[in-house]
Amino acid sequence: MPDISQSIPPRPQWRTGIGFLLAAIGSAVGLGNIWRFPYIAYKNGGGAFLIPYLTALITAGIPILLLEFALGHQKKASAPKAFALIHERWEWIGWWSVIFIMFGIMAYYTVVIGWCFNYLCFSFTQAWGSDPNTYFFKEFLHTSSGVWDLQGLNLRVLGAVALIWAVNWAITWKGLENGIERAVKFMMPVLFGITVIIVVWSVFLEGAADGIRLYLTPDFSKIANVDVWVAAYGQIFFTLSLGFGIMIAYASYLPQDANILKNSVIVAATNSFYEIFAGFGVFAVLGYMAFKQSLPIQETVTSGIGLAFVAYPKAISMLPFGTVFGVLFFFLLCIAGISSSISIIEAFTAALSDKFGLKRRQMVSLLCAFGFAESILFTTDAGLYWLDIVDHFINHYGLISVGIFEALVVGWLFKTETLKMHIMERMTPAKNKTVLRRAILNIWVFCIRCITPAALGIAIINSLITEFSAPYEGYPVSGIIVLGVGWLLVTHIAAMGVSRLPWKNRQEQE
Ligand code: PHE
Repeated sequence: MPDISQSIPPRPQWRTGIGFLLAAIGSAVGLGNIWRFPYIAYKNGGGAFLIPYLTALITAGIPILLLEFALGHQKKASAPKAFALIHERWEWIGWWSVIFIMFGIMAYYTVVIGWCFNYLCFSFTQAWGSDPNTYFFKEFLHTSSGVWDLQGLNLRVLGAVALIWAVNWAITWKGLENGIERAVKFMMPVLFGITVIIVVWSVFLEGAADGIRLYLTPDFSKIANVDVWVAAYGQIFFTLSLGFGIMIAYASYLPQDANILKNSVIVAATNSFYEIFAGFGVFAVLGYMAFKQSLPIQETVTSGIGLAFVAYPKAISMLPFGTVFGVLFFFLLCIAGISSSISIIEAFTAALSDKFGLKRRQMVSLLCAFGFAESILFTTDAGLYWLDIVDHFINHYGLISVGIFEALVVGWLFKTETLKMHIMERMTPAKNKTVLRRAILNIWVFCIRCITPAALGIAIINSLITEFSAPYEGYPVSGIIVLGVGWLLVTHIAAMGVSRLPWKNRQEQE
Protein backbone atom coordinates (compact mmCIF):
# COMPACT_ATOMS: atom_id res chain seq x y z
CA MET A 1 0.00 0.00 0.00
CA PRO A 2 1.65 3.27 -1.04
CA ASP A 3 2.11 5.93 1.56
CA ILE A 4 -0.05 8.63 0.06
CA SER A 5 -1.28 10.19 3.20
CA GLN A 6 0.23 13.60 2.52
CA SER A 7 -0.24 15.89 -0.46
CA ILE A 8 2.83 17.62 -1.75
CA PRO A 9 1.65 21.17 -2.46
CA PRO A 10 -0.15 22.63 0.57
CA ARG A 11 -3.84 21.93 0.12
CA PRO A 12 -5.85 25.05 -0.66
CA GLN A 13 -8.91 25.80 1.47
CA TRP A 14 -12.18 27.64 0.86
CA ARG A 15 -12.04 31.08 2.39
CA THR A 16 -15.64 30.84 3.58
CA GLY A 17 -18.30 28.21 4.01
CA ILE A 18 -20.59 30.10 1.69
CA GLY A 19 -17.85 30.10 -0.98
CA PHE A 20 -17.82 26.30 -0.86
CA LEU A 21 -21.61 26.08 -0.96
CA LEU A 22 -21.85 28.41 -3.94
CA ALA A 23 -19.16 26.47 -5.79
CA ALA A 24 -20.90 23.14 -5.15
CA ILE A 25 -24.28 24.58 -6.10
CA GLY A 26 -22.64 26.21 -9.15
CA SER A 27 -21.44 22.81 -10.26
CA ALA A 28 -24.82 21.21 -9.70
CA VAL A 29 -26.91 23.93 -11.28
CA GLY A 30 -26.08 23.71 -14.94
CA LEU A 31 -27.63 23.43 -18.35
CA GLY A 32 -29.36 20.25 -17.18
CA ASN A 33 -31.45 22.13 -14.62
CA ILE A 34 -32.79 24.56 -17.17
CA TRP A 35 -33.37 22.52 -20.24
CA ARG A 36 -33.45 18.92 -19.08
CA PHE A 37 -35.44 18.74 -15.88
CA PRO A 38 -38.69 20.46 -16.93
CA TYR A 39 -39.05 18.20 -19.95
CA ILE A 40 -38.20 14.99 -18.08
CA ALA A 41 -40.75 15.94 -15.43
CA TYR A 42 -43.43 16.64 -18.02
CA LYS A 43 -42.77 13.46 -20.00
CA ASN A 44 -42.78 11.29 -16.91
CA GLY A 45 -46.01 12.20 -15.23
CA GLY A 46 -45.85 15.96 -14.57
CA GLY A 47 -46.68 16.69 -10.94
CA ALA A 48 -46.73 12.96 -10.20
CA PHE A 49 -43.05 12.80 -11.24
CA LEU A 50 -42.24 14.50 -7.97
CA ILE A 51 -42.82 11.15 -6.23
CA PRO A 52 -40.07 9.19 -8.04
CA TYR A 53 -37.94 12.33 -8.21
CA LEU A 54 -38.01 13.01 -4.48
CA THR A 55 -37.58 9.31 -3.73
CA ALA A 56 -34.48 9.30 -5.92
CA LEU A 57 -33.24 12.45 -4.25
CA ILE A 58 -33.58 10.96 -0.79
CA THR A 59 -32.42 7.41 -1.52
CA ALA A 60 -29.60 8.13 -3.98
CA GLY A 61 -28.98 11.85 -4.48
CA ILE A 62 -28.37 12.97 -0.93
CA PRO A 63 -26.72 9.67 0.14
CA ILE A 64 -24.17 9.74 -2.68
CA LEU A 65 -23.58 13.46 -2.26
CA LEU A 66 -23.03 12.89 1.44
CA LEU A 67 -20.74 10.00 0.61
CA GLU A 68 -18.67 12.12 -1.80
CA PHE A 69 -18.47 15.04 0.61
CA ALA A 70 -17.55 12.81 3.56
CA LEU A 71 -14.98 10.82 1.60
CA GLY A 72 -13.27 13.91 0.16
CA HIS A 73 -13.31 15.63 3.52
CA GLN A 74 -12.17 12.74 5.65
CA LYS A 75 -9.36 11.76 3.28
CA LYS A 76 -8.53 15.36 2.30
CA ALA A 77 -8.16 14.02 -1.17
CA SER A 78 -9.40 14.14 -4.74
CA ALA A 79 -11.30 11.14 -6.13
CA PRO A 80 -8.34 8.92 -7.19
CA LYS A 81 -6.45 9.48 -3.97
CA ALA A 82 -9.54 8.99 -1.83
CA PHE A 83 -10.22 5.62 -3.46
CA ALA A 84 -6.54 4.68 -3.31
CA LEU A 85 -6.65 5.33 0.41
CA ILE A 86 -9.49 2.83 0.73
CA HIS A 87 -7.37 0.35 -1.21
CA GLU A 88 -4.92 0.94 -4.04
CA ARG A 89 -6.91 -1.53 -6.12
CA TRP A 90 -9.74 1.05 -6.35
CA GLU A 91 -7.71 4.05 -7.41
CA TRP A 92 -8.84 3.57 -11.03
CA ILE A 93 -12.46 4.38 -10.13
CA GLY A 94 -11.42 7.89 -9.20
CA TRP A 95 -9.30 8.28 -12.31
CA TRP A 96 -12.01 6.98 -14.57
CA SER A 97 -14.51 9.50 -13.30
CA VAL A 98 -12.19 12.49 -13.62
CA ILE A 99 -10.77 11.38 -16.99
CA PHE A 100 -14.07 10.79 -18.75
CA ILE A 101 -15.48 13.97 -17.42
CA MET A 102 -12.43 16.07 -18.33
CA PHE A 103 -11.85 14.52 -21.73
CA GLY A 104 -15.42 13.51 -22.47
CA ILE A 105 -18.03 15.78 -21.00
CA MET A 106 -15.88 18.91 -20.77
CA ALA A 107 -14.89 18.71 -24.45
CA TYR A 108 -18.48 19.04 -25.64
CA TYR A 109 -19.96 20.92 -22.67
CA THR A 110 -17.78 23.90 -23.59
CA VAL A 111 -19.03 23.64 -27.18
CA VAL A 112 -22.64 23.89 -26.00
CA ILE A 113 -21.71 26.92 -23.88
CA GLY A 114 -20.08 28.28 -27.05
CA TRP A 115 -23.40 27.92 -28.89
CA CYS A 116 -25.11 29.76 -26.03
CA PHE A 117 -22.57 32.55 -26.36
CA ASN A 118 -23.24 32.82 -30.11
CA TYR A 119 -26.97 32.97 -29.40
CA LEU A 120 -26.37 35.63 -26.77
CA CYS A 121 -24.90 37.77 -29.58
CA PHE A 122 -27.65 36.74 -32.04
CA SER A 123 -30.28 37.90 -29.53
CA PHE A 124 -29.41 41.53 -30.22
CA THR A 125 -30.56 41.26 -33.84
CA GLN A 126 -32.69 38.11 -33.53
CA ALA A 127 -30.49 36.75 -36.28
CA TRP A 128 -32.41 33.45 -36.37
CA GLY A 129 -35.21 35.14 -38.33
CA SER A 130 -38.59 33.52 -38.77
CA ASP A 131 -37.43 29.92 -38.94
CA PRO A 132 -35.12 29.24 -35.96
CA ASN A 133 -35.13 25.51 -36.66
CA THR A 134 -33.54 25.78 -40.10
CA TYR A 135 -31.32 28.57 -38.84
CA PHE A 136 -29.91 26.51 -35.99
CA PHE A 137 -29.30 23.25 -37.80
CA LYS A 138 -28.44 24.50 -41.27
CA GLU A 139 -27.17 28.05 -41.17
CA PHE A 140 -25.56 28.10 -37.75
CA LEU A 141 -24.27 24.54 -37.34
CA HIS A 142 -24.20 23.55 -41.05
CA THR A 143 -25.07 20.07 -39.81
CA SER A 144 -23.67 17.50 -42.24
CA SER A 145 -25.33 14.37 -43.59
CA GLY A 146 -23.96 11.92 -41.01
CA VAL A 147 -21.50 11.04 -38.26
CA TRP A 148 -18.50 10.59 -40.55
CA ASP A 149 -19.25 13.49 -42.89
CA LEU A 150 -17.07 16.03 -41.07
CA GLN A 151 -16.92 18.64 -43.85
CA GLY A 152 -15.11 21.52 -42.15
CA LEU A 153 -14.69 23.50 -38.96
CA ASN A 154 -17.37 25.92 -37.89
CA LEU A 155 -15.37 29.06 -37.22
CA ARG A 156 -18.10 30.94 -35.37
CA VAL A 157 -18.47 28.07 -32.95
CA LEU A 158 -14.72 27.58 -32.73
CA GLY A 159 -14.18 31.24 -31.82
CA ALA A 160 -16.77 31.10 -29.05
CA VAL A 161 -15.37 27.82 -27.75
CA ALA A 162 -11.90 29.39 -27.57
CA LEU A 163 -13.38 32.22 -25.53
CA ILE A 164 -15.16 29.85 -23.15
CA TRP A 165 -11.96 27.87 -22.59
CA ALA A 166 -10.11 31.14 -22.01
CA VAL A 167 -12.63 32.14 -19.33
CA ASN A 168 -12.35 28.70 -17.72
CA TRP A 169 -8.58 28.95 -17.82
CA ALA A 170 -8.54 32.46 -16.34
CA ILE A 171 -10.74 31.39 -13.41
CA THR A 172 -9.05 28.11 -12.54
CA TRP A 173 -5.52 29.45 -13.12
CA LYS A 174 -6.04 31.89 -10.27
CA GLY A 175 -6.56 29.04 -7.88
CA LEU A 176 -9.29 27.97 -5.54
CA GLU A 177 -9.86 31.07 -3.43
CA ASN A 178 -8.91 33.81 -5.85
CA GLY A 179 -10.29 32.07 -8.90
CA ILE A 180 -13.17 29.67 -8.35
CA GLU A 181 -14.44 31.05 -5.05
CA ARG A 182 -14.41 34.64 -6.26
CA ALA A 183 -16.00 33.73 -9.57
CA VAL A 184 -18.89 31.82 -8.01
CA LYS A 185 -19.52 34.56 -5.47
CA PHE A 186 -20.19 36.81 -8.43
CA MET A 187 -21.79 34.30 -10.80
CA MET A 188 -24.26 32.56 -8.52
CA PRO A 189 -26.14 35.63 -7.25
CA VAL A 190 -26.32 36.85 -10.88
CA LEU A 191 -27.59 33.44 -11.96
CA PHE A 192 -30.28 33.37 -9.28
CA GLY A 193 -31.26 36.97 -9.97
CA ILE A 194 -31.66 36.45 -13.71
CA THR A 195 -33.60 33.24 -13.13
CA VAL A 196 -36.09 35.04 -10.90
CA ILE A 197 -36.51 37.81 -13.49
CA ILE A 198 -37.06 35.33 -16.31
CA VAL A 199 -39.47 33.11 -14.39
CA VAL A 200 -41.54 36.03 -13.08
CA TRP A 201 -41.58 37.59 -16.55
CA SER A 202 -42.66 34.29 -18.10
CA VAL A 203 -45.46 33.40 -15.70
CA PHE A 204 -47.23 36.69 -16.43
CA LEU A 205 -47.36 36.07 -20.20
CA GLU A 206 -50.64 35.22 -21.89
CA GLY A 207 -51.16 31.48 -22.06
CA ALA A 208 -48.55 30.84 -19.35
CA ALA A 209 -51.11 29.18 -17.09
CA ASP A 210 -51.81 26.50 -19.70
CA GLY A 211 -48.13 25.70 -19.90
CA ILE A 212 -47.77 25.47 -16.15
CA ARG A 213 -50.86 23.31 -15.92
CA LEU A 214 -49.33 20.92 -18.43
CA TYR A 215 -46.05 20.86 -16.46
CA LEU A 216 -47.71 20.10 -13.15
CA THR A 217 -50.86 18.09 -13.89
CA PRO A 218 -50.17 14.76 -12.24
CA ASP A 219 -50.52 11.63 -14.29
CA PHE A 220 -50.32 8.94 -11.63
CA SER A 221 -50.66 6.12 -14.14
CA LYS A 222 -47.13 6.89 -15.37
CA ILE A 223 -45.35 6.27 -12.10
CA ALA A 224 -46.10 2.56 -12.22
CA ASN A 225 -43.68 2.39 -15.14
CA VAL A 226 -40.06 1.44 -14.36
CA ASP A 227 -38.74 3.81 -17.07
CA VAL A 228 -40.08 6.75 -15.11
CA TRP A 229 -38.14 5.69 -12.03
CA VAL A 230 -35.01 5.16 -14.10
CA ALA A 231 -35.43 8.67 -15.50
CA ALA A 232 -35.74 10.07 -11.99
CA TYR A 233 -32.55 8.39 -10.76
CA GLY A 234 -30.69 9.42 -13.94
CA GLN A 235 -31.76 13.03 -13.57
CA ILE A 236 -30.81 13.21 -9.89
CA PHE A 237 -27.40 11.77 -10.59
CA PHE A 238 -26.61 14.11 -13.45
CA THR A 239 -28.02 17.22 -11.89
CA LEU A 240 -26.12 16.85 -8.63
CA SER A 241 -22.85 16.29 -10.55
CA LEU A 242 -22.42 12.91 -8.84
CA GLY A 243 -19.92 10.32 -9.99
CA PHE A 244 -17.69 13.00 -11.51
CA GLY A 245 -15.23 13.30 -8.64
CA ILE A 246 -16.16 16.98 -8.39
CA MET A 247 -17.87 16.93 -5.04
CA ILE A 248 -15.04 14.82 -3.57
CA ALA A 249 -12.45 17.40 -4.62
CA TYR A 250 -14.54 20.37 -3.50
CA ALA A 251 -15.16 18.86 -0.06
CA SER A 252 -11.46 18.12 0.39
CA TYR A 253 -10.86 21.87 0.62
CA LEU A 254 -13.25 22.34 3.54
CA PRO A 255 -11.95 23.16 7.01
CA GLN A 256 -11.75 20.34 9.55
CA ASP A 257 -14.95 21.11 11.41
CA ALA A 258 -17.30 21.67 8.43
CA ASN A 259 -20.78 20.20 8.87
CA ILE A 260 -20.90 17.69 6.03
CA LEU A 261 -24.49 16.54 6.42
CA LYS A 262 -25.87 20.06 6.54
CA ASN A 263 -23.87 21.06 3.48
CA SER A 264 -25.07 18.13 1.43
CA VAL A 265 -28.71 18.78 2.31
CA ILE A 266 -28.34 22.48 1.42
CA VAL A 267 -26.69 21.75 -1.94
CA ALA A 268 -29.20 19.06 -2.89
CA ALA A 269 -32.23 21.07 -1.79
CA THR A 270 -31.11 24.28 -3.53
CA ASN A 271 -30.38 22.42 -6.74
CA SER A 272 -33.76 20.66 -6.80
CA PHE A 273 -35.62 23.79 -5.83
CA TYR A 274 -33.84 25.62 -8.65
CA GLU A 275 -34.81 23.11 -11.32
CA ILE A 276 -38.42 22.82 -10.23
CA PHE A 277 -38.61 26.62 -10.16
CA ALA A 278 -36.94 26.98 -13.59
CA GLY A 279 -39.56 24.57 -14.94
CA PHE A 280 -42.28 27.15 -14.27
CA GLY A 281 -40.47 29.62 -16.53
CA VAL A 282 -39.86 27.08 -19.28
CA PHE A 283 -43.44 25.84 -19.40
CA ALA A 284 -44.88 29.34 -19.09
CA VAL A 285 -42.96 30.36 -22.21
CA LEU A 286 -44.12 27.26 -24.07
CA GLY A 287 -47.71 28.05 -23.04
CA TYR A 288 -47.27 31.58 -24.35
CA MET A 289 -45.99 30.30 -27.69
CA ALA A 290 -48.87 27.87 -28.07
CA PHE A 291 -51.27 30.69 -27.29
CA LYS A 292 -49.68 33.06 -29.83
CA GLN A 293 -49.60 30.48 -32.59
CA SER A 294 -52.96 28.96 -31.65
CA LEU A 295 -51.30 25.57 -31.44
CA PRO A 296 -52.07 22.76 -29.01
CA ILE A 297 -49.47 23.24 -26.29
CA GLN A 298 -48.20 19.66 -26.55
CA GLU A 299 -46.79 20.56 -29.95
CA THR A 300 -44.50 23.24 -28.57
CA VAL A 301 -42.91 21.10 -25.88
CA THR A 302 -39.27 20.06 -26.41
CA SER A 303 -36.11 19.78 -24.37
CA GLY A 304 -32.39 20.32 -24.62
CA ILE A 305 -31.10 21.71 -27.87
CA GLY A 306 -34.59 22.01 -29.31
CA LEU A 307 -35.74 24.06 -26.34
CA ALA A 308 -32.82 26.47 -26.02
CA PHE A 309 -31.96 26.99 -29.66
CA VAL A 310 -35.26 26.56 -31.46
CA ALA A 311 -38.26 27.05 -29.16
CA TYR A 312 -36.81 29.89 -27.09
CA PRO A 313 -35.56 31.93 -30.07
CA LYS A 314 -39.06 31.59 -31.56
CA ALA A 315 -40.59 32.87 -28.33
CA ILE A 316 -38.03 35.66 -28.05
CA SER A 317 -39.06 36.92 -31.50
CA MET A 318 -42.71 37.06 -30.40
CA LEU A 319 -42.16 38.72 -27.03
CA PRO A 320 -42.34 42.42 -26.38
CA PHE A 321 -38.77 43.39 -25.32
CA GLY A 322 -37.72 40.02 -26.68
CA THR A 323 -34.13 41.19 -27.13
CA VAL A 324 -33.74 41.82 -23.41
CA PHE A 325 -35.32 38.45 -22.64
CA GLY A 326 -33.01 36.72 -25.13
CA VAL A 327 -29.84 38.34 -23.82
CA LEU A 328 -30.79 37.47 -20.23
CA PHE A 329 -31.71 33.89 -21.09
CA PHE A 330 -28.53 33.08 -23.04
CA PHE A 331 -26.36 34.89 -20.52
CA LEU A 332 -27.98 32.73 -17.85
CA LEU A 333 -27.12 29.58 -19.80
CA CYS A 334 -23.50 30.76 -20.22
CA ILE A 335 -23.10 31.39 -16.49
CA ALA A 336 -24.80 28.14 -15.52
CA GLY A 337 -22.45 26.33 -17.92
CA ILE A 338 -19.26 28.04 -16.79
CA SER A 339 -19.91 27.54 -13.08
CA SER A 340 -20.22 23.83 -13.87
CA SER A 341 -17.27 23.59 -16.26
CA ILE A 342 -14.78 25.15 -13.83
CA SER A 343 -15.66 22.41 -11.37
CA ILE A 344 -14.63 19.80 -13.93
CA ILE A 345 -11.21 21.38 -14.37
CA GLU A 346 -10.79 21.58 -10.61
CA ALA A 347 -11.66 17.91 -10.11
CA PHE A 348 -8.98 16.90 -12.61
CA THR A 349 -6.39 19.40 -11.41
CA ALA A 350 -6.85 18.21 -7.83
CA ALA A 351 -6.35 14.62 -8.95
CA LEU A 352 -3.10 15.40 -10.80
CA SER A 353 -1.83 17.55 -8.00
CA ASP A 354 -2.49 14.86 -5.40
CA LYS A 355 -0.76 12.17 -7.39
CA PHE A 356 2.10 13.91 -9.12
CA GLY A 357 2.55 17.06 -7.05
CA LEU A 358 2.45 19.21 -10.18
CA LYS A 359 2.18 22.99 -10.00
CA ARG A 360 -1.39 24.18 -10.41
CA ARG A 361 -0.78 26.97 -12.90
CA GLN A 362 1.20 24.92 -15.37
CA MET A 363 -1.24 22.07 -15.01
CA VAL A 364 -4.28 24.24 -15.61
CA SER A 365 -2.70 25.87 -18.66
CA LEU A 366 -1.76 22.54 -20.19
CA LEU A 367 -5.15 21.03 -19.42
CA CYS A 368 -7.05 23.93 -20.96
CA ALA A 369 -4.86 23.90 -24.08
CA PHE A 370 -5.36 20.16 -24.47
CA GLY A 371 -9.06 20.37 -23.67
CA PHE A 372 -9.58 23.12 -26.21
CA ALA A 373 -7.78 21.06 -28.86
CA GLU A 374 -10.17 18.24 -28.08
CA SER A 375 -13.22 20.49 -28.24
CA ILE A 376 -12.28 21.28 -31.84
CA LEU A 377 -13.45 17.75 -32.68
CA PHE A 378 -16.96 18.85 -31.78
CA THR A 379 -16.89 22.00 -33.89
CA THR A 380 -16.91 20.26 -37.26
CA ASP A 381 -20.12 20.01 -39.23
CA ALA A 382 -20.69 16.55 -37.76
CA GLY A 383 -20.13 17.94 -34.23
CA LEU A 384 -23.77 17.70 -33.25
CA TYR A 385 -23.83 13.95 -33.89
CA TRP A 386 -20.54 13.40 -32.08
CA LEU A 387 -21.75 15.35 -29.12
CA ASP A 388 -24.99 13.46 -28.95
CA ILE A 389 -23.35 10.03 -29.01
CA VAL A 390 -20.54 10.80 -26.53
CA ASP A 391 -23.02 12.46 -24.18
CA HIS A 392 -25.42 9.55 -24.27
CA PHE A 393 -22.81 6.90 -23.53
CA ILE A 394 -20.94 8.80 -20.85
CA ASN A 395 -24.10 9.73 -18.99
CA HIS A 396 -25.91 6.44 -19.29
CA TYR A 397 -22.97 4.14 -18.65
CA GLY A 398 -19.85 5.97 -17.43
CA LEU A 399 -21.50 8.06 -14.80
CA ILE A 400 -23.89 5.41 -13.56
CA SER A 401 -21.13 2.74 -13.41
CA VAL A 402 -18.96 5.04 -11.30
CA GLY A 403 -21.94 5.63 -9.01
CA ILE A 404 -22.44 1.89 -8.54
CA PHE A 405 -18.75 1.26 -7.86
CA GLU A 406 -18.59 4.20 -5.49
CA ALA A 407 -21.54 3.00 -3.48
CA LEU A 408 -20.36 -0.63 -3.39
CA VAL A 409 -16.73 0.11 -2.54
CA VAL A 410 -17.53 2.63 0.16
CA GLY A 411 -20.56 0.72 1.43
CA TRP A 412 -19.06 -2.76 1.62
CA LEU A 413 -15.27 -2.56 1.46
CA PHE A 414 -14.63 0.42 3.68
CA LYS A 415 -15.40 0.81 7.34
CA THR A 416 -18.52 2.90 6.98
CA GLU A 417 -18.39 3.35 10.75
CA THR A 418 -15.36 5.64 10.22
CA LEU A 419 -17.28 7.85 7.79
CA LYS A 420 -20.38 7.78 9.98
CA MET A 421 -18.36 9.00 12.94
CA HIS A 422 -16.68 11.60 10.78
CA ILE A 423 -20.05 13.01 9.75
CA MET A 424 -21.59 12.74 13.18
CA GLU A 425 -18.77 14.55 14.98
CA ARG A 426 -19.36 17.51 12.71
CA MET A 427 -23.09 17.85 13.16
CA THR A 428 -24.36 20.85 15.07
CA PRO A 429 -24.36 19.94 18.76
CA ALA A 430 -27.89 19.45 20.04
CA LYS A 431 -29.11 17.70 23.11
CA ASN A 432 -30.78 14.31 23.04
CA LYS A 433 -30.57 13.95 19.30
CA THR A 434 -28.01 11.16 19.25
CA VAL A 435 -30.58 8.46 18.58
CA LEU A 436 -32.04 10.41 15.70
CA ARG A 437 -28.63 11.07 14.21
CA ARG A 438 -27.65 7.45 14.46
CA ALA A 439 -30.89 6.49 12.75
CA ILE A 440 -30.30 8.95 9.91
CA LEU A 441 -26.77 7.70 9.37
CA ASN A 442 -27.87 4.06 9.51
CA ILE A 443 -30.45 4.75 6.84
CA TRP A 444 -27.72 6.45 4.85
CA VAL A 445 -25.50 3.38 5.03
CA PHE A 446 -28.41 1.16 4.03
CA CYS A 447 -29.02 3.40 1.00
CA ILE A 448 -25.44 3.32 -0.24
CA ARG A 449 -25.08 -0.38 0.39
CA CYS A 450 -28.33 -1.57 -1.13
CA ILE A 451 -30.79 0.92 -2.55
CA THR A 452 -28.47 3.10 -4.61
CA PRO A 453 -26.56 0.26 -6.31
CA ALA A 454 -29.80 -1.61 -6.98
CA ALA A 455 -31.54 1.43 -8.45
CA LEU A 456 -28.54 2.38 -10.58
CA GLY A 457 -28.09 -1.26 -11.62
CA ILE A 458 -31.68 -1.41 -12.87
CA ALA A 459 -31.10 1.88 -14.72
CA ILE A 460 -28.05 0.52 -16.52
CA ILE A 461 -29.73 -2.78 -17.44
CA ASN A 462 -32.72 -0.87 -18.71
CA SER A 463 -30.50 1.32 -20.91
CA LEU A 464 -28.63 -1.73 -22.24
CA ILE A 465 -31.87 -3.44 -23.24
CA THR A 466 -32.90 -0.37 -25.21
CA GLU A 467 -29.41 -0.15 -26.76
CA PHE A 468 -29.52 -3.66 -28.11
CA SER A 469 -33.02 -3.35 -29.46
CA ALA A 470 -32.00 -0.54 -31.83
CA PRO A 471 -28.88 1.62 -32.33
CA TYR A 472 -29.14 4.87 -30.35
CA GLU A 473 -31.07 7.48 -32.39
CA GLY A 474 -30.53 5.36 -35.51
CA TYR A 475 -26.83 6.28 -35.75
CA PRO A 476 -24.58 3.92 -37.75
CA VAL A 477 -23.14 1.16 -35.59
CA SER A 478 -19.59 2.29 -36.47
CA GLY A 479 -20.30 5.70 -34.95
CA ILE A 480 -21.73 4.18 -31.81
CA ILE A 481 -18.82 1.79 -31.38
CA VAL A 482 -16.07 4.34 -32.03
CA LEU A 483 -17.55 7.39 -30.32
CA GLY A 484 -19.73 5.83 -27.65
CA VAL A 485 -18.19 2.54 -26.58
CA GLY A 486 -14.72 3.65 -27.73
CA TRP A 487 -14.73 6.78 -25.63
CA LEU A 488 -15.67 4.83 -22.51
CA LEU A 489 -13.12 2.12 -23.22
CA VAL A 490 -10.22 4.46 -23.91
CA THR A 491 -10.91 6.52 -20.80
CA HIS A 492 -11.17 3.32 -18.77
CA ILE A 493 -7.83 2.03 -20.10
CA ALA A 494 -6.25 5.43 -19.43
CA ALA A 495 -7.61 5.32 -15.86
CA MET A 496 -6.14 1.86 -15.30
CA GLY A 497 -2.82 3.08 -16.72
CA VAL A 498 -2.59 6.21 -14.60
CA SER A 499 -3.54 4.36 -11.46
CA ARG A 500 -0.49 2.09 -11.92
CA LEU A 501 1.94 5.02 -12.05
CA PRO A 502 3.88 5.68 -8.87
CA TRP A 503 2.89 8.40 -6.40
CA LYS A 504 5.20 11.36 -6.32
CA ASN A 505 5.34 11.58 -2.55
CA ARG A 506 6.05 7.90 -2.17
CA GLN A 507 9.07 8.34 -4.40
CA GLU A 508 10.16 11.29 -2.35
CA GLN A 509 9.93 9.31 0.83
CA GLU A 510 11.89 6.37 -0.50
N1 PHE B 1 -24.99 19.26 -12.86
C1 PHE B 1 -24.87 19.79 -14.16
C2 PHE B 1 -26.23 20.08 -14.77
O1 PHE B 1 -27.24 19.81 -14.20
C3 PHE B 1 -24.19 18.87 -15.06
C4 PHE B 1 -22.73 18.87 -15.05
C5 PHE B 1 -21.98 19.49 -14.10
C6 PHE B 1 -22.11 18.24 -16.00
C7 PHE B 1 -20.64 19.47 -14.12
C8 PHE B 1 -20.78 18.23 -16.05
C9 PHE B 1 -20.06 18.83 -15.08
O2 PHE B 1 -26.27 20.59 -15.86
